[in-house]
Amino acid sequence: MHELSVDLGDRSYPIFTGAELFSKPEYLLPYIHGQQVCVVTNETVAPLYLQQLKAVLGDKEVLDVVLPDGEQYKNLNTLNLIFDELLAARHNRTTTLIALGGGVTGDMTGFAAACYQRGVDFIQVPTTLLAMVDSSVGGKTGVNHALGKNMIGAFYQPNCVLADTDLLKTLPERELSAGIAEVIKYGLVSDYDFFVWLEQNMDKLLAKDEAALAYAIDRSCQNKASVVARDEREGGIRAILNFGHTFGHAIETAQGYGVWLHGEAVAAGMVMAADLSQRMGMISKDDLSRLVGMLRQAKLPVMAPDTMTSDDFIALMSVDKKVLDGRLRLVLLQSMGEAMVTSDIDRALLLQTFSAC
Ligand code: NAD
Ligand code: GLY
Repeated sequence: MHELSVDLGDRSYPIFTGAELFSKPEYLLPYIHGQQVCVVTNETVAPLYLQQLKAVLGDKEVLDVVLPDGEQYKNLNTLNLIFDELLAARHNRTTTLIALGGGVTGDMTGFAAACYQRGVDFIQVPTTLLAMVDSSVGGKTGVNHALGKNMIGAFYQPNCVLADTDLLKTLPERELSAGIAEVIKYGLVSDYDFFVWLEQNMDKLLAKDEAALAYAIDRSCQNKASVVARDEREGGIRAILNFGHTFGHAIETAQGYGVWLHGEAVAAGMVMAADLSQRMGMISKDDLSRLVGMLRQAKLPVMAPDTMTSDDFIALMSVDKKVLDGRLRLVLLQSMGEAMVTSDIDRALLLQTFSAC
């Protein structure tokens, strides 16, 4: 077991990573302060892991809420199902919500915890690679709106994160690749040595090699925790964690939520952001090729859907949360392993990127 900390003063919390953690009460029970617990999961994850989790909760009064599976259900209607069940079972302010699932479940459960009776405790038990390396850490919670990804939400931190690599054994290959996209992101924006490690170890990650997965999860969480501790509410540096996401969110929204996986859209979006960085003279063509080669090896898309036009991108990117005073802001690569946020974007070069990618 490895323990990391997200340092946020009196709201600091641990991230436990490793194998065989899930069935051990010591990683959960100390972080549950009341008797009532509500496990939120979905119809795919419930048959795999819900009973096992409930067994760990011992004599707690446990309610479970099993949501429909899919990004297309990450919305206010589904969120309301959680509130319906909590109220029907008379859960009070001492309840603890546990998110058992991927990023969709984690984002919705966290937001439900932020809102229910003005805020109750919650715990993240991520079950996808993407959720283990990104969405379960850092307190971004929320749902989608028809007009934009993750537009309704709150910053709300969990009491702890329990990332057990054993749970990845059942994860489909396509979902594993989607998680690898966010892992690669850390190498690009803040950790060049990790990028090099990924070049050397991608085959092991794709084969779900236990040690390689544990290392990648740990290093990703270290990168994320360090950024979140410096800028919890994204006033500055945290925006670098959105590398590729402005393009990627436009792809997800245009295609219809769930058609492209989040990690797939981020992969194509990272190529677009890197392509623009190269056109602006910050990284070399060779750097760009290294990224494209790595994403291809990880079986991730490296081009936007060919149905999307420049106008589609510009319209959808203008609702991005980083837009300030009507000006688009993008995360670009200053060099491999170092990102920057800028609104100084040459429109002609951006249009070239849309045509090339
Ligand atoms: P997901 O939650 O939809 O899970 C992917 C699929 O895998 C689902 O079908 C799920 O049921 C299934 N699944 C989950 N665990 C499994 C397991 N162990 N075995 C078999 N199947 C399993 O998607 P995701 O990729 O985990 O998360 C994507 C979401 O995360 C997006 O909504 C994205 O916006 C959000 N996100 C949030 C943050 C954040 O900081 N809050 C960061 C990155 C992404
Ligand atoms: N996934 C980006 C962030 O948490 O800031």
